[in-house]
Amino acid sequence: MAGEKNAATSAPPCAIVIFGATGDLTARKLLPALYNLTRDGLLSKSTVVIGFARRPKTDEEFRAEMLEAINTFSRCKPVDAELWRDLAQRIFYHQSTFENAAGYHSLADRLADVDKKFKTGGRRLYYLSTSPTEFGQIVERLGDAGLGNIDPFNSQAWRRAIVEKPFGRNLATARELNQHINRVFDESQVYRIDHYLGKQTVQNLLVFRFANGIFEPIWNRRYVDHIQITVGETLGVEGRGGYFENAGTLRDMVQNHLMQLLTLIAMEPPVALDGDAIRDEKVRVLKSIQPFTPQEVALYTVRGQYSPGTVDGKPTIGYLQERGVAPDSQTETYAAVKLDINNWRWHGVPFYLRSGKHLKRQGSEVSIHFNSAPGVLFNAPGGNLARNILTLRIQPKEGISLLINAKRPGTVTRIAPAHMDFEYNEAFGSYSPEAYERLLLDAMLGDSTLFIRRDEVESAWSIIDRIEESWTSGTPPLAMYEPGSWGPQAANELLARDGRTWDCLGADASR
Ligand code: BG6
Repeated sequence: MAGEKNAATSAPPCAIVIFGATGDLTARKLLPALYNLTRDGLLSKSTVVIGFARRPKTDEEFRAEMLEAINTFSRCKPVDAELWRDLAQRIFYHQSTFENAAGYHSLADRLADVDKKFKTGGRRLYYLSTSPTEFGQIVERLGDAGLGNIDPFNSQAWRRAIVEKPFGRNLATARELNQHINRVFDESQVYRIDHYLGKQTVQNLLVFRFANGIFEPIWNRRYVDHIQITVGETLGVEGRGGYFENAGTLRDMVQNHLMQLLTLIAMEPPVALDGDAIRDEKVRVLKSIQPFTPQEVALYTVRGQYSPGTVDGKPTIGYLQERGVAPDSQTETYAAVKLDINNWRWHGVPFYLRSGKHLKRQGSEVSIHFNSAPGVLFNAPGGNLARNILTLRIQPKEGISLLINAKRPGTVTRIAPAHMDFEYNEAFGSYSPEAYERLLLDAMLGDSTLFIRRDEVESAWSIIDRIEESWTSGTPPLAMYEPGSWGPQAANELLARDGRTWDCLGADASR
């Protein structure tokens, strides 16, 4: 897709300021990504990284922590000593609280020095990797210190802000946050990250759809019976109870990652492969989804929470026993939703979305279930042949498979399902940059295709808000499920009512 043209383009030198630099994301994802970009020759040898955070720390201490983090989390390790020496001398630590104006003025002085010393040309990438409650004030302080302004006479001296999810808790708070951000940064300077868009297989959805002639003609209500999107996780909330209590699966996963997958599957062909053309089409999909009435929430959504249980023979705690979780919490760790996209292409084709923690299998998949062929020639039971199913495996075992009906070998004609399978690693080798590598590179290159635009976020929230409102008032009731299961029984009933069943995630891979 659009960014492919950038794949081998290295980024211009800039200063990357990471707010919340002592947090998990910096250690697990951001510094490993910057190191790998360096390894691949895609990060300029003049680019500077400044970690901005509250805890007192010297540059040296910060560098040592980052080295350890890269050695632990990088896809390429151990760290190459020479590359690291070169990168480390351009990594600095800036100690300040997020509210302290003086900390931003001293940051401005530091950035001016960096420009002189490393020739970063006034290009700045601010990465907001803090708790979302800090976003507003960081942006405001950056603005007050003149750090958001762009020079109208020098388009090369850009200022960009990467914002991590969650973008608000609902439509009202998302709007408020967006207004806040847009007071300092123009929308073209804002890069909202959804790491799913950095995954190679997610980017492949558009290539698959629009670079192949045979799928697009059947990609509509005349040929498709229904579509399933699943993101399943085998782990529980793993110590993130405090965060999860404020989110729940609907906000944490569905509002962003699953909705993004949905828009890429359902969108019309864009007029061009550029950021705005693609995002215009994605927004059109979201606008075609009618927000639910409370009655529809009761009928078409399921929320669940994992109970204590046993996984792989070992006892596991329930969500209510997780640290930071209220003993009577109603927060969902599982969500399933049936959505209709009311447009010409998809009218009458249900999209079933589900995501949950502590499920039976780990993986993210989209499956397109096509209408079945008439069974008249084959005496199929009930007159129906099994549907052809096209499964797009986002992770793991990234690939694509098509379920077809085939003749079982033998003297009589018996039909059995068979898979035609394509695996990324087999076809192209195992090199696959991490999502954050691609996204950081794109932000430095000014390609916003894989980032979320303001109207996308807000349209997604208007769908989610209606569901949250009913859930908060107890409809439908929270259903408990066993860890290591496929989620609550109510989710099976959601499909059973339509005469359908959920896919067994990863079933192809485990064949
Ligand atoms: C994050 C969520 O955005 O995505 C986590 O906050 C979730 O709760 C994670 O575990 C899943 O991402 P991935 O890339 O492992 O599928």
